[in-house]
Amino acid sequence: MKAVVWKGVGDIGLEDVQRPKIKEPTDAIVRLTASAICGTDLHFVRGTITGMKPGTILGHEGVGIVEELGKQVRNLAVGDRVVIPSTIACGYCSYCRDGYYAQCDNANAEGGTAFFGGPKESGPFDGLQAEYARIPFANVGPLKIPDEVTDEQAILLSDIFTTGYFGASLAEICDGDPVAVFGCGPVGQFAIASAILRGAGRVFAIDAIESRLDMARRQGAEVINFNTEDPVKTLKDLTGGIGPDRVIDAVGVDAETSTRGPAAKKAKKEKEEFQEERSKVAPEANPDGKNWVPGHAPSQALMWAVESVAKAGTLSIIGVYAEDSQFPIGQAMEKNLTVKAGNCNHRRYLPKLMDLVRSGQFDPSTILTNKVALTDAIEAYESFDTRQDGWIKVELMPAA
Ligand SMILES: NC(=O)c1ccc[n+]([C@@H]2O[C@H](COP(=O)([O-])OP(=O)(O)OC[C@H]3O[C@@H](n4cnc5c(N)ncnc54)[C@H](O)[C@@H]3O)[C@@H](O)[C@H]2O)c1
Ligand SMILES: [Zn+2]
Ligand SMILES: [Zn+2]
Repeated sequence: MKAVVWKGVGDIGLEDVQRPKIKEPTDAIVRLTASAICGTDLHFVRGTITGMKPGTILGHEGVGIVEELGKQVRNLAVGDRVVIPSTIACGYCSYCRDGYYAQCDNANAEGGTAFFGGPKESGPFDGLQAEYARIPFANVGPLKIPDEVTDEQAILLSDIFTTGYFGASLAEICDGDPVAVFGCGPVGQFAIASAILRGAGRVFAIDAIESRLDMARRQGAEVINFNTEDPVKTLKDLTGGIGPDRVIDAVGVDAETSTRGPAAKKAKKEKEEFQEERSKVAPEANPDGKNWVPGHAPSQALMWAVESVAKAGTLSIIGVYAEDSQFPIGQAMEKNLTVKAGNCNHRRYLPKLMDLVRSGQFDPSTILTNKVALTDAIEAYESFDTRQDGWIKVELMPAA
Protein backbone atom coordinates (compact mmCIF):
# COMPACT_ATOMS: atom_id res chain seq x y z
CA MET A 1 0.00 0.00 0.00
CA LYS A 2 0.99 3.67 -0.37
CA ALA A 3 1.89 5.78 2.67
CA VAL A 4 3.74 8.99 3.56
CA VAL A 5 6.95 7.95 5.29
CA TRP A 6 9.34 10.00 7.47
CA LYS A 7 12.84 9.14 6.29
CA GLY A 8 14.84 11.87 7.98
CA VAL A 9 14.66 15.56 8.94
CA GLY A 10 13.71 17.39 5.73
CA ASP A 11 13.12 14.08 3.97
CA ILE A 12 9.68 12.52 3.49
CA GLY A 13 8.36 10.40 0.65
CA LEU A 14 5.37 8.51 -0.69
CA GLU A 15 6.43 4.88 -0.38
CA ASP A 16 5.13 1.38 -0.96
CA VAL A 17 4.91 -0.31 2.45
CA GLN A 18 3.46 -3.51 3.94
CA ARG A 19 -0.24 -3.52 4.72
CA PRO A 20 -0.75 -3.65 8.50
CA LYS A 21 -2.09 -6.74 10.29
CA ILE A 22 -3.98 -7.27 13.54
CA LYS A 23 -1.47 -7.78 16.40
CA GLU A 24 -3.59 -7.49 19.55
CA PRO A 25 -7.18 -8.59 20.26
CA THR A 26 -8.13 -4.90 20.78
CA ASP A 27 -6.83 -3.86 17.32
CA ALA A 28 -8.78 -2.96 14.23
CA ILE A 29 -7.63 -2.54 10.64
CA VAL A 30 -9.20 0.50 8.99
CA ARG A 31 -9.19 1.32 5.28
CA LEU A 32 -8.70 5.07 5.28
CA THR A 33 -10.96 7.26 3.16
CA ALA A 34 -9.57 10.54 4.51
CA SER A 35 -6.44 11.74 6.29
CA ALA A 36 -4.90 15.19 6.72
CA ILE A 37 -1.67 17.09 7.33
CA CYS A 38 -1.21 18.76 10.74
CA GLY A 39 1.18 21.48 11.94
CA THR A 40 2.60 18.80 14.24
CA ASP A 41 3.77 16.79 11.19
CA LEU A 42 5.64 19.91 10.05
CA HIS A 43 7.58 20.03 13.35
CA PHE A 44 8.83 16.47 12.65
CA VAL A 45 9.96 17.32 9.12
CA ARG A 46 11.51 20.65 10.13
CA GLY A 47 13.30 18.89 12.99
CA THR A 48 11.89 21.13 15.76
CA ILE A 49 10.41 18.06 17.45
CA THR A 50 13.08 15.37 17.45
CA GLY A 51 13.15 11.61 18.02
CA MET A 52 11.39 10.35 14.88
CA LYS A 53 12.35 6.84 13.78
CA PRO A 54 13.12 6.55 10.05
CA GLY A 55 10.45 4.49 8.30
CA THR A 56 7.56 5.69 10.48
CA ILE A 57 4.36 6.37 8.55
CA LEU A 58 3.27 9.97 9.26
CA GLY A 59 -0.17 11.32 10.07
CA HIS A 60 -2.53 11.27 13.03
CA GLU A 61 -5.83 12.25 11.45
CA GLY A 62 -8.04 9.60 9.92
CA VAL A 63 -11.52 8.60 8.78
CA GLY A 64 -12.21 5.23 7.26
CA ILE A 65 -14.05 1.94 7.03
CA VAL A 66 -13.44 -0.92 9.47
CA GLU A 67 -11.95 -3.85 7.51
CA GLU A 68 -11.03 -6.29 10.27
CA LEU A 69 -11.49 -6.53 14.03
CA GLY A 70 -9.67 -8.17 16.92
CA LYS A 71 -11.72 -10.43 19.22
CA GLN A 72 -12.00 -7.87 22.01
CA VAL A 73 -13.51 -5.09 19.92
CA ARG A 74 -17.21 -5.55 20.66
CA ASN A 75 -18.60 -2.10 19.78
CA LEU A 76 -17.68 -1.96 16.09
CA ALA A 77 -18.55 -4.08 13.07
CA VAL A 78 -16.73 -4.64 9.80
CA GLY A 79 -17.98 -1.99 7.38
CA ASP A 80 -18.53 0.71 10.02
CA ARG A 81 -17.47 4.22 9.04
CA VAL A 82 -15.38 5.71 11.85
CA VAL A 83 -13.29 8.72 12.85
CA ILE A 84 -10.01 7.85 14.56
CA PRO A 85 -8.83 10.12 17.40
CA SER A 86 -5.13 11.10 17.10
CA THR A 87 -4.23 9.91 20.57
CA ILE A 88 -4.40 6.24 21.55
CA ALA A 89 -5.74 5.26 24.97
CA CYS A 90 -6.65 2.07 26.85
CA GLY A 91 -9.90 3.32 28.37
CA TYR A 92 -9.40 1.50 31.67
CA CYS A 93 -6.44 3.08 33.53
CA SER A 94 -7.07 5.78 36.13
CA TYR A 95 -6.08 8.55 33.68
CA CYS A 96 -8.42 7.36 30.92
CA ARG A 97 -11.24 6.97 33.46
CA ASP A 98 -10.69 10.60 34.46
CA GLY A 99 -10.72 11.84 30.85
CA TYR A 100 -6.92 12.31 30.57
CA TYR A 101 -6.68 10.01 27.56
CA ALA A 102 -3.44 11.72 26.43
CA GLN A 103 -1.80 10.50 29.66
CA CYS A 104 -2.91 6.88 29.37
CA ASP A 105 -0.73 4.49 31.39
CA ASN A 106 -1.06 1.50 29.08
CA ALA A 107 -1.15 2.57 25.43
CA ASN A 108 2.56 3.31 25.28
CA ALA A 109 5.42 1.51 27.00
CA GLU A 110 7.64 4.56 26.32
CA GLY A 111 5.56 6.61 28.74
CA GLY A 112 4.74 9.63 26.54
CA THR A 113 1.37 10.48 24.99
CA ALA A 114 0.57 7.66 22.55
CA PHE A 115 -0.38 8.90 19.10
CA PHE A 116 -0.19 7.87 15.45
CA GLY A 117 2.80 8.84 13.32
CA GLY A 118 4.94 10.39 16.07
CA PRO A 119 8.44 10.11 17.56
CA LYS A 120 9.88 7.22 19.53
CA GLU A 121 8.47 8.47 22.87
CA SER A 122 4.96 8.40 21.42
CA GLY A 123 5.13 4.66 20.73
CA PRO A 124 6.02 4.87 17.93
CA PHE A 125 2.87 3.88 16.05
CA ASP A 126 2.60 3.97 12.27
CA GLY A 127 0.39 6.85 11.18
CA LEU A 128 -2.72 7.48 9.15
CA GLN A 129 -1.43 9.11 5.94
CA ALA A 130 -1.80 5.72 4.32
CA GLU A 131 -4.31 3.44 2.61
CA TYR A 132 -4.72 1.20 5.68
CA ALA A 133 -3.82 1.50 9.36
CA ARG A 134 -3.70 -0.66 12.45
CA ILE A 135 -5.71 1.03 15.20
CA PRO A 136 -4.68 -0.11 18.72
CA PHE A 137 -7.39 0.00 21.41
CA ALA A 138 -10.02 0.24 18.69
CA ASN A 139 -12.59 -0.71 21.34
CA VAL A 140 -11.98 2.73 22.90
CA GLY A 141 -10.80 5.25 20.28
CA PRO A 142 -12.74 5.18 17.00
CA LEU A 143 -16.21 6.72 16.95
CA LYS A 144 -18.91 5.75 14.44
CA ILE A 145 -19.83 8.58 12.08
CA PRO A 146 -23.53 9.34 11.65
CA ASP A 147 -24.76 9.31 8.02
CA GLU A 148 -25.41 13.07 8.06
CA VAL A 149 -21.72 13.83 8.75
CA THR A 150 -19.41 13.91 5.71
CA ASP A 151 -15.78 12.75 5.51
CA GLU A 152 -14.76 16.44 5.11
CA GLN A 153 -16.40 17.24 8.43
CA ALA A 154 -15.32 14.10 10.25
CA ILE A 155 -11.62 14.37 9.35
CA LEU A 156 -11.48 17.70 11.20
CA LEU A 157 -12.81 16.02 14.34
CA SER A 158 -9.97 13.50 14.34
CA ASP A 159 -7.53 16.06 15.80
CA ILE A 160 -7.83 19.77 15.17
CA PHE A 161 -11.43 20.73 16.02
CA THR A 162 -11.03 18.60 19.13
CA THR A 163 -7.70 20.27 19.97
CA GLY A 164 -9.12 23.77 19.45
CA TYR A 165 -11.97 22.85 21.78
CA PHE A 166 -9.53 21.41 24.32
CA GLY A 167 -7.56 24.70 24.10
CA ALA A 168 -10.70 26.73 24.79
CA SER A 169 -11.50 24.44 27.70
CA LEU A 170 -7.97 24.81 29.22
CA ALA A 171 -8.35 28.59 28.82
CA GLU A 172 -11.28 28.48 31.27
CA ILE A 173 -13.41 30.69 29.01
CA CYS A 174 -16.56 32.01 30.70
CA ASP A 175 -19.48 33.75 29.01
CA GLY A 176 -18.44 37.21 27.87
CA ASP A 177 -14.65 36.78 28.30
CA PRO A 178 -12.26 38.55 25.94
CA VAL A 179 -10.01 35.86 24.43
CA ALA A 180 -6.88 36.13 22.27
CA VAL A 181 -5.73 33.31 20.01
CA PHE A 182 -2.11 33.39 18.83
CA GLY A 183 -1.76 31.56 15.51
CA CYS A 184 -4.46 31.35 12.82
CA GLY A 185 -3.39 28.04 11.33
CA PRO A 186 -6.00 25.28 11.33
CA VAL A 187 -5.67 24.68 15.08
CA GLY A 188 -5.96 28.42 15.78
CA GLN A 189 -9.08 28.59 13.58
CA PHE A 190 -10.72 25.87 15.67
CA ALA A 191 -9.57 27.55 18.90
CA ILE A 192 -11.37 30.70 17.67
CA ALA A 193 -14.50 28.73 16.76
CA SER A 194 -14.42 26.90 20.11
CA ALA A 195 -13.90 30.12 22.10
CA ILE A 196 -17.05 31.46 20.41
CA LEU A 197 -18.93 28.19 21.06
CA ARG A 198 -17.93 28.44 24.74
CA GLY A 199 -19.33 31.96 25.04
CA ALA A 200 -16.34 34.29 24.55
CA GLY A 201 -17.42 37.92 24.38
CA ARG A 202 -14.67 39.01 21.99
CA VAL A 203 -11.99 36.99 20.21
CA PHE A 204 -8.72 38.52 18.98
CA ALA A 205 -6.71 36.56 16.42
CA ILE A 206 -3.00 37.13 15.81
CA ASP A 207 -0.94 35.96 12.81
CA ALA A 208 0.98 37.52 9.91
CA ILE A 209 -0.61 35.63 7.01
CA GLU A 210 -3.43 37.63 5.48
CA SER A 211 -5.45 34.67 4.13
CA ARG A 212 -5.41 33.10 7.59
CA LEU A 213 -6.39 36.41 9.24
CA ASP A 214 -9.22 36.74 6.68
CA MET A 215 -10.57 33.34 7.69
CA ALA A 216 -10.40 34.37 11.38
CA ARG A 217 -12.25 37.60 10.58
CA ARG A 218 -14.96 35.63 8.76
CA GLN A 219 -15.45 33.69 12.00
CA GLY A 220 -15.99 36.98 13.84
CA ALA A 221 -12.53 37.51 15.33
CA GLU A 222 -10.84 40.93 15.62
CA VAL A 223 -7.59 40.37 13.71
CA ILE A 224 -4.06 41.63 14.38
CA ASN A 225 -1.17 41.25 11.91
CA PHE A 226 2.11 41.14 13.82
CA ASN A 227 4.01 42.45 10.79
CA THR A 228 1.99 45.65 10.63
CA GLU A 229 1.24 46.20 14.34
CA ASP A 230 2.85 45.45 17.69
CA PRO A 231 0.51 42.63 18.80
CA VAL A 232 0.99 43.22 22.55
CA LYS A 233 0.35 46.97 22.32
CA THR A 234 -2.66 46.47 20.02
CA LEU A 235 -4.22 43.86 22.34
CA LYS A 236 -3.85 46.31 25.25
CA ASP A 237 -5.18 49.23 23.16
CA LEU A 238 -8.26 47.21 22.15
CA THR A 239 -9.03 46.18 25.75
CA GLY A 240 -8.79 49.42 27.71
CA GLY A 241 -5.12 48.79 28.57
CA ILE A 242 -5.89 45.56 30.46
CA GLY A 243 -5.35 42.79 27.91
CA PRO A 244 -7.53 39.76 27.15
CA ASP A 245 -8.45 37.57 30.15
CA ARG A 246 -7.81 34.32 28.31
CA VAL A 247 -5.06 33.61 25.82
CA ILE A 248 -4.58 30.48 23.71
CA ASP A 249 -1.21 29.67 22.12
CA ALA A 250 -1.96 27.78 18.90
CA VAL A 251 1.49 28.41 17.38
CA GLY A 252 4.06 26.11 18.97
CA VAL A 253 7.79 25.71 18.55
CA ASP A 254 8.00 26.88 14.90
CA ALA A 255 7.00 30.43 15.86
CA GLU A 256 8.13 33.44 13.87
CA THR A 257 8.60 37.01 15.05
CA SER A 258 7.90 40.40 13.42
CA THR A 259 10.12 41.06 10.43
CA ARG A 260 8.35 44.34 9.57
CA GLY A 261 6.23 46.90 11.42
CA PRO A 262 6.55 48.42 14.90
CA ALA A 263 7.45 45.16 16.71
CA ALA A 264 10.36 44.37 14.36
CA LYS A 265 12.85 46.58 16.22
CA LYS A 266 12.47 44.70 19.51
CA ALA A 267 12.54 41.40 17.63
CA LYS A 268 15.86 42.34 16.06
CA LYS A 269 17.38 42.88 19.53
CA GLU A 270 16.25 39.40 20.57
CA LYS A 271 17.53 37.76 17.38
CA GLU A 272 20.59 36.18 18.95
CA GLU A 273 18.67 34.68 21.86
CA PHE A 274 16.11 33.22 19.46
CA GLN A 275 18.91 31.84 17.27
CA GLU A 276 20.46 30.12 20.25
CA GLU A 277 17.12 28.63 21.31
CA ARG A 278 16.47 27.52 17.74
CA SER A 279 19.76 25.65 17.48
CA LYS A 280 18.86 23.82 20.70
CA VAL A 281 15.33 22.83 19.66
CA ALA A 282 16.27 21.94 16.07
CA PRO A 283 19.84 20.61 16.20
CA GLU A 284 19.52 18.70 12.91
CA ALA A 285 17.53 21.10 10.72
CA ASN A 286 17.74 20.22 7.03
CA PRO A 287 16.00 22.91 4.97
CA ASP A 288 15.47 22.41 1.23
CA GLY A 289 15.15 25.87 -0.29
CA LYS A 290 12.10 27.48 1.28
CA ASN A 291 10.87 24.19 2.72
CA TRP A 292 11.42 22.63 6.14
CA VAL A 293 12.84 25.79 7.72
CA PRO A 294 12.46 25.78 11.53
CA GLY A 295 10.68 28.81 12.98
CA HIS A 296 13.07 31.70 13.65
CA ALA A 297 11.69 32.64 17.10
CA PRO A 298 10.68 29.44 18.93
CA SER A 299 9.25 31.05 22.09
CA GLN A 300 7.88 34.29 20.58
CA ALA A 301 4.21 33.34 20.79
CA LEU A 302 4.61 32.34 24.46
CA MET A 303 6.37 35.62 25.23
CA TRP A 304 3.69 37.72 23.53
CA ALA A 305 0.96 35.67 25.19
CA VAL A 306 2.34 36.20 28.72
CA GLU A 307 2.98 39.89 28.03
CA SER A 308 -0.47 40.61 26.67
CA VAL A 309 -2.76 38.54 28.91
CA ALA A 310 -4.58 40.42 31.70
CA LYS A 311 -3.24 40.08 35.27
CA ALA A 312 -4.71 36.97 36.93
CA GLY A 313 -5.68 35.71 33.47
CA THR A 314 -5.37 32.22 31.98
CA LEU A 315 -2.92 31.00 29.38
CA SER A 316 -3.74 27.81 27.48
CA ILE A 317 -0.85 26.25 25.57
CA ILE A 318 -1.86 23.81 22.84
CA GLY A 319 0.99 24.68 20.47
CA VAL A 320 3.57 21.89 20.70
CA TYR A 321 6.93 22.71 22.33
CA ALA A 322 10.27 20.96 22.69
CA GLU A 323 12.07 19.99 25.88
CA ASP A 324 14.49 22.88 25.36
CA SER A 325 11.75 25.47 24.72
CA GLN A 326 11.85 28.57 26.91
CA PHE A 327 9.02 30.13 28.89
CA PRO A 328 8.85 33.53 30.68
CA ILE A 329 8.10 32.00 34.06
CA GLY A 330 9.04 35.08 36.11
CA GLN A 331 6.58 37.31 34.31
CA ALA A 332 3.83 34.67 34.49
CA MET A 333 4.41 34.32 38.24
CA GLU A 334 4.43 38.09 38.84
CA LYS A 335 1.09 38.42 37.00
CA ASN A 336 -0.65 35.65 38.99
CA LEU A 337 -1.38 33.74 35.80
CA THR A 338 -2.96 30.33 35.51
CA VAL A 339 -1.05 28.31 32.90
CA LYS A 340 -2.53 25.12 31.47
CA ALA A 341 -1.01 23.04 28.70
CA GLY A 342 -1.01 19.68 27.05
CA ASN A 343 -1.78 17.17 24.38
CA CYS A 344 -5.46 16.96 23.56
CA ASN A 345 -7.52 14.24 25.26
CA HIS A 346 -9.32 13.69 21.96
CA ARG A 347 -11.66 10.91 23.04
CA ARG A 348 -13.04 13.06 25.87
CA TYR A 349 -14.55 15.68 23.52
CA LEU A 350 -15.18 13.66 20.36
CA PRO A 351 -18.78 12.50 20.98
CA LYS A 352 -19.92 15.96 22.02
CA LEU A 353 -18.32 17.67 19.01
CA MET A 354 -19.64 14.99 16.65
CA ASP A 355 -23.11 15.80 17.88
CA LEU A 356 -22.59 19.55 17.31
CA VAL A 357 -21.66 18.74 13.72
CA ARG A 358 -24.44 16.18 13.19
CA SER A 359 -27.09 18.59 14.44
CA GLY A 360 -25.81 21.35 12.16
CA GLN A 361 -24.80 23.70 15.00
CA PHE A 362 -21.27 23.99 13.65
CA ASP A 363 -19.79 23.05 10.28
CA PRO A 364 -16.03 22.40 10.66
CA SER A 365 -15.55 21.91 6.91
CA THR A 366 -15.48 25.70 6.43
CA ILE A 367 -11.85 25.50 7.67
CA LEU A 368 -10.88 22.87 5.06
CA THR A 369 -9.25 24.63 2.10
CA ASN A 370 -7.68 21.84 0.05
CA LYS A 371 -8.39 18.22 -0.86
CA VAL A 372 -5.71 16.24 -2.64
CA ALA A 373 -5.06 12.60 -3.50
CA LEU A 374 -2.67 10.79 -1.14
CA THR A 375 -0.38 10.35 -4.14
CA ASP A 376 0.06 14.17 -4.21
CA ALA A 377 0.77 14.37 -0.48
CA ILE A 378 4.39 15.51 -0.72
CA GLU A 379 3.53 18.56 -2.87
CA ALA A 380 0.70 19.32 -0.44
CA TYR A 381 3.14 19.11 2.49
CA GLU A 382 5.41 21.59 0.70
CA SER A 383 2.61 24.11 0.13
CA PHE A 384 1.30 23.80 3.70
CA ASP A 385 4.84 24.05 5.10
CA THR A 386 5.49 27.40 3.39
CA ARG A 387 1.99 28.57 4.43
CA GLN A 388 1.09 29.43 0.85
CA ASP A 389 -1.97 31.59 0.43
CA GLY A 390 -5.09 29.50 0.62
CA TRP A 391 -3.34 26.39 2.00
CA ILE A 392 -4.80 26.35 5.50
CA LYS A 393 -6.04 22.78 6.03
CA VAL A 394 -5.34 19.93 3.65
CA GLU A 395 -7.33 16.71 3.46
CA LEU A 396 -5.56 13.74 1.88
CA MET A 397 -7.67 11.20 0.02
CA PRO A 398 -6.09 7.71 0.06
CA ALA A 399 -8.66 6.23 -2.31
CA ALA A 400 -8.41 8.94 -5.00
N1 LIG B 1 -1.87 20.01 21.85
C1 LIG B 1 -2.27 19.20 20.90
O1 LIG B 1 -2.82 18.14 21.17
C2 LIG B 1 -2.10 19.58 19.45
C3 LIG B 1 -2.86 18.96 18.46
C4 LIG B 1 -2.71 19.41 17.13
C5 LIG B 1 -1.81 20.41 16.84
N2 LIG B 1 -1.07 20.97 17.84
C6 LIG B 1 -0.10 22.06 17.59
O2 LIG B 1 -0.79 23.25 17.32
C7 LIG B 1 0.10 24.14 16.63
C8 LIG B 1 -0.60 24.75 15.43
O3 LIG B 1 -0.90 23.74 14.47
P1 LIG B 1 -1.41 24.15 13.01
O4 LIG B 1 -1.74 22.89 12.31
O5 LIG B 1 -2.42 25.21 13.11
O6 LIG B 1 0.00 24.71 12.43
P2 LIG B 1 0.42 25.89 11.43
O7 LIG B 1 1.90 25.83 11.37
O8 LIG B 1 -0.37 25.78 10.18
O9 LIG B 1 -0.03 27.22 12.17
C9 LIG B 1 0.76 28.02 12.97
C10 LIG B 1 0.37 29.48 12.69
O10 LIG B 1 1.03 30.34 13.62
C11 LIG B 1 1.44 31.51 12.96
N3 LIG B 1 2.52 32.13 13.75
C12 LIG B 1 3.85 31.90 13.69
N4 LIG B 1 4.47 32.64 14.64
C13 LIG B 1 3.51 33.34 15.29
C14 LIG B 1 3.53 34.27 16.37
N5 LIG B 1 4.68 34.61 16.97
N6 LIG B 1 2.34 34.80 16.79
C15 LIG B 1 1.17 34.45 16.19
N7 LIG B 1 1.10 33.58 15.15
C16 LIG B 1 2.24 33.02 14.73
C17 LIG B 1 1.86 31.01 11.59
O11 LIG B 1 1.89 32.05 10.63
C18 LIG B 1 0.79 29.95 11.30
O12 LIG B 1 -0.33 30.51 10.63
C19 LIG B 1 1.32 23.29 16.29
O13 LIG B 1 2.33 23.52 17.24
C20 LIG B 1 0.81 21.88 16.42
O14 LIG B 1 1.86 20.97 16.70
C21 LIG B 1 -1.21 20.57 19.13
ZN1 LIG C 1 -2.25 17.25 14.97
ZN1 LIG D 1 -5.48 4.42 29.76
